[in-house]
Formats: sequence, C-alpha cells, structure tokens
Amino acid sequence: MLGREAKEHVLGQRGRVFWLYGLSGSGKSTLAHALERRLHGEGVLTRLLDGDNIRTGLSRGLGFSDADRLENIRRISEVAKLFAETGIVTLAAFITPTRELRAMARDIVGAPDFREIYVKASFAACAARDVKGLYAKAKAGGVKDFTGRDSLFEEPDADVGDVVVIDTEHTTVEDSTDTLYQIVRPLIDPRDSRPGEK
Ligand code: ADX
Repeated sequence: MLGREAKEHVLGQRGRVFWLYGLSGSGKSTLAHALERRLHGEGVLTRLLDGDNIRTGLSRGLGFSDADRLENIRRISEVAKLFAETGIVTLAAFITPTRELRAMARDIVGAPDFREIYVKASFAACAARDVKGLYAKAKAGGVKDFTGRDSLFEEPDADVGDVVVIDTEHTTVEDSTDTLYQIVRPLIDPRDSRPGEK
C-alpha cells in the first residue's frame, strides 16, 4: 500500500491538522481562509473544513444538542485525519465548545498531527459583530442551544501548554493571520519529524 511518507514526499510538505475553535463569529473561518490563501500562494496543498462545507453535507441533519455536536466533531475529525494522512495541510474551523470535544478530535486525528488553536473573542464582541445576525436572533429567543448563551463554551485549560491562543478581539485579521502563519509554517515543513521518526 502506498504510504503517507510517499505522498508527503510528492507534495513536499507534512500532513497536519490545525483545529481552530471558538465562539460563533470569533473569526475562525476568516482566519482559516486568510491562512489558506497565504499557504496556497507558497505552493502548499491545503483543505479547509468549516460549517459552510460540512453542516450542509457530511453533517447535514445534525443540530446543536450536545450529542449532535459530538457526532459533528467526530465525523470532521475522521475526515481531517484522512486528509492529514494524504499529506494535506488541513484547517478545521468549528466552535468545538468543550474540552472533551477537543480531546476527542485530538485522539481521532492523532496528537502528533494535531494543533489546537483557540480563536479568542468574548461573547460580547462576537455579539457586537453579529455577522450572521444569529446573536440578535438568539437574544430574541429564536435559536435553540446557542453557544455561550444556552449551551456551554469552555475556554482552554490555562495549564495545558500546547494551546495556541489568537486574540481576534484586540488584533487585526492581518496580524492574527501572521501569528498563525508563523506557528503553522515550521510544522508543515517536510523536515519536521513526528515523534518516533528519524
Ligand atoms: S459545533 O459546536 O458543532 O462545533 P459548528 O462549528 O459546526 O458547531 O457550527 C457553528 C455554526 O452554526 C455557527 O457559526 C452558526 O453559524 C451556526 N449555528 C446555528 N445554530 C447554532 C447554535 N445553536 N449554536 C451555535 N452555532 C449555531
């Protein structure tokens, strides 16, 4: 069977999963799109997964109960793993509201390939942006299980060292993208080795 190393060799990059999470409207997709464009411009093969292309297809029919969110993240994690094993730099942008869900994603993808990125913006800031009008709708009682309001959102554990925090409330998209790029670039370099590799 044609292995992952051979595919990464053809692409000249490492397959990795960068998992961006945070409240609705925190800037996950915006950041992922900007990062993708930059990487693409350098000849990196990427795949972006977000609500727009997942909840209408792979996860169609799933809602926002705890059980449905878990199933959503489980499916996405399995798909992200397949992409990473094909050598593709995969950017996943989902609320992924709990530590348990993030841990599941990490377990499924495999820790050496997985980087967790918290896209941080307060509920108030996201509500002020309200790009999709959902915060206003939720305030009027029109959204069931709305994250940060009726449904739990857990910040990352401050003690866990491996979490990258991108604060979009106090930084521009350009600066946030740049910070993220500096983190991502060395990890997708073909010379970056996974633990246990030469
Ligand atoms: S997750 O919790 O399962 O990770 P996901 O990222 O796929 O969520 O979907 C979040 C998007 O769905 C939001 O950006 C928003 O546009 C939309 N949405 C619709 N209903 C809700 C809700 N109740 N809570 C959060 N987001 C919702």
